[in-house]
Amino acid sequence: MRHILSLKCVLCGAEYTPDEVLYVCPKHGDEGILDVLYDYDLIGQTLSKESLAANHDYSIWRYAPLLPVAEDSPRPPLQVGWTPLYHARRLGESLGLPNLCLKDDGRNPTASFKDRASAVGVVKALELGYETVTCASTGNAASSLAGLAASVGLKSVIFVPQRAPQAKVAQLLIFGARVIMIKGTYDQAFDLCLEAAREYPWYSRNTAYNPYLSEGKKTAALELCEQLGWEAPDRIFVSVGDGCIIGGLWKGLKDLLALGFIDRMPQLVGVQAEGSAPLVRAWEKGTEEIVPMVPETLADSISVGQPRDRVKALRAARETGGKYVSVDDEEILEAMRLLGREAAVFAEPAGAAGFAGLRKLASLGQIDPEERIVVLVTGNGLKDVDSAIRATGQPELIEPTMSALRRLT
Ligand SMILES: Cc1ncc(COP(=O)(O)O)c(C=O)c1O
Ligand SMILES: [Zn+2]
Repeated sequence: MRHILSLKCVLCGAEYTPDEVLYVCPKHGDEGILDVLYDYDLIGQTLSKESLAANHDYSIWRYAPLLPVAEDSPRPPLQVGWTPLYHARRLGESLGLPNLCLKDDGRNPTASFKDRASAVGVVKALELGYETVTCASTGNAASSLAGLAASVGLKSVIFVPQRAPQAKVAQLLIFGARVIMIKGTYDQAFDLCLEAAREYPWYSRNTAYNPYLSEGKKTAALELCEQLGWEAPDRIFVSVGDGCIIGGLWKGLKDLLALGFIDRMPQLVGVQAEGSAPLVRAWEKGTEEIVPMVPETLADSISVGQPRDRVKALRAARETGGKYVSVDDEEILEAMRLLGREAAVFAEPAGAAGFAGLRKLASLGQIDPEERIVVLVTGNGLKDVDSAIRATGQPELIEPTMSALRRLT
């Protein structure tokens, strides 16, 4: 893989070759997340706006020269990425924002953004000769890893907290994963999974641990800029739990700037649920240190008390001139209703949180009406129908007669 220069520790800056380390910086243990550095001159020889315009592979693999996989590695057959970017006119008008776009990542094969990372994860597992992959997850990374593993014939062992929504657990079981449900929180499931991967010959797709996953996540930023004709938006809103998605988007945008595909960096706005907002607190205090909290929010996918990718997540907002904002569960439910009614996009709570954050900043007068905004919808609403019904209320139940109907109307 000549296009990779090194893997660089986000804490100490030490650099390694991909052959030297499997996951994290040996000097920093589990905290030493590594960033993949590329040779952009070399990549620029094969990847250009023109080569992309002529490329009919509408999936994350259209950006293969910018991904940490060998050219001839087998790729999963599922179609991951190139999700739709909608100009959400009615939804935007309701906020006085005519230039609002939604990128619906619930349209990925297992219905969440996480497929981008899992697709890269399973290719790495195959390259390294593993037969089994593992991860801990609030649900989406898990179901996505299970699905992508099934698509290439890898086994998967998945750790989930007992509170994971049933639909996500059903996905795991259907994809044939071995599901280990933890009587505890996601954070505890994560620690146990890391320990298990040290003992068993399982490839770890744990977030903010495996350096290659963030590279899959960055493809959403590459896509949305390409879908906008390489005119980078002014701001991108995204919900944040561990902070890997926002870190990945930042990486993708930096790649595009380095290659000269875009000429300015959009601001990244991270949105957390109020009951699970350690990054918002760190942001307000101006520190990269986190005070872990016991998370409490209906948005299960961002119910994370100890964000594993805190450093990249906070720098992504700071270095792009963005910010962090929190929204409460009621605001998330309202965002789900509005996304559904005004844009026909069905989001799970964490998938709608980014839009809830935009509404909040708009109501505070912090958004210019001319701004070009992209909100990432990170997961599909069918993954958590209980929350959807909580957002909308129950249907009206009547006897099958006209008189009963007339009484209603
Ligand atoms: C639907 C959804 N939105 C947002 C997130 C947050 O991503 P991250 O934990 O990388 O911040 C997740 C992560 O599980 C997710 O599944
Ligand atoms: Zn280090």
